[in-house]
Amino acid sequence: MLMNATGATLVCLGPSSGFEVRPILRRKPAPGEIEVAVAAASVNPIDVRRAQGYGRRLLSLVGAGRFPMVLGNDFAGTVTALGDNVDAFKIGDPVYGAKPPSAEGTHASYVLVKAAHALPARAGQDLQALAALPYSFVTMWLAVRGAGLTRQNAAEKRVLVHGAAGSLGTLALQMLSAWGASVTAIARPSDFVACREAGALEVVDSSSKPFAMLSRMFDATLNFATWDDDLALIDALRDGALGHATSVHPLLANFDELGWVRGVLKTLSDKRRHRAALPKNGRYVWTVFKPETPALQELRELVEQRRVGLPIAVREPLVGAAQALEHVKKGRRGRALILPS
Ligand SMILES: NC(=O)c1ccc[n+]([C@@H]2O[C@H](COP(=O)([O-])OP(=O)(O)OC[C@H]3O[C@@H](n4cnc5c(N)ncnc54)[C@H](OP(=O)(O)O)[C@@H]3O)[C@@H](O)[C@H]2O)c1
Repeated sequence: MLMNATGATLVCLGPSSGFEVRPILRRKPAPGEIEVAVAAASVNPIDVRRAQGYGRRLLSLVGAGRFPMVLGNDFAGTVTALGDNVDAFKIGDPVYGAKPPSAEGTHASYVLVKAAHALPARAGQDLQALAALPYSFVTMWLAVRGAGLTRQNAAEKRVLVHGAAGSLGTLALQMLSAWGASVTAIARPSDFVACREAGALEVVDSSSKPFAMLSRMFDATLNFATWDDDLALIDALRDGALGHATSVHPLLANFDELGWVRGVLKTLSDKRRHRAALPKNGRYVWTVFKPETPALQELRELVEQRRVGLPIAVREPLVGAAQALEHVKKGRRGRALILPS
């Protein structure tokens, strides 16, 4: 049902058509949903790629593959309306969280989200800092779990993190060090200090053959950097290791480039080839973001303990979103936020 009030969204029109800020009529939340006035929403690498048409085939299965679309998965803001059966929040509550991929993303002044995908923020908590976290944290957590690590078994485990200075990598260093793991970070030398501050015990230069000296030492390996290094990371697992997970797999690209049938075949053969390189009983997972409740609960706990946070480099209103997307596209350091209201 439409409400007699408008908001504004950043609409992505297509790969060569750019973006437009458009007014929209707000809708009443469905049962189990809340409406959030978005104070801040982050820009992630996936937003930049989806703006170029990346992932259109598989994402069309969840209504997120066609232009025009509104990008963005994270949000932080204030609850402005409640659907039926929502007891966890009241109007005026500060919240943060993540939406599954859709054509109605969070780069908008108001979003409708499932109450189950929102976390309560404390009064006065920095909503911009919170908006930088959920999408990256949840994906990182899924990778960590996919590789076989848990809060209960992580102590003393040796974990290798590739892409350690990026958003997922930094959050992995923070969480795994809080869990007592012994973490080695692969990053550029200019990022070594930040990696150590985030919890890495050892740092390895990503630019000088990092895998040559890391062979078969680790209980778990995490790839947040490049598919090209996936087999080298698997090779760094010791016999009896827990496993490996990657967020930089070719799942979406396989379907974009090869279509449905050849996309399935290529995906199966990519996975088979990499699984064959694992130590016996090792796990192997291609992480795909979804806002899972245990991941969000872990985020809430670590936020309340002040154990996780990411540096923010860019803050732009909806009309300045192009600068925020450009920052991410160029792989510059620090998170980029859109501040819609
Ligand atoms: N599958 C999913 O659902 C999902 C969800 C979230 C993210 N992701 C993907 O996961 C990756 C990490 O996300 P993020 O937000 O952490 O990105 P990010 O902040 O841009 O960090 C990426 C990191 O990877 C490193 N890296 C990239 N290419 C590299 C290469 N060829 N060799 C060595 N290091 C390289 C970068 O280091 P330098 O800057 O030093 O090159 C940077 O530290 C991205 O590719 C993202 O698209 C996937």
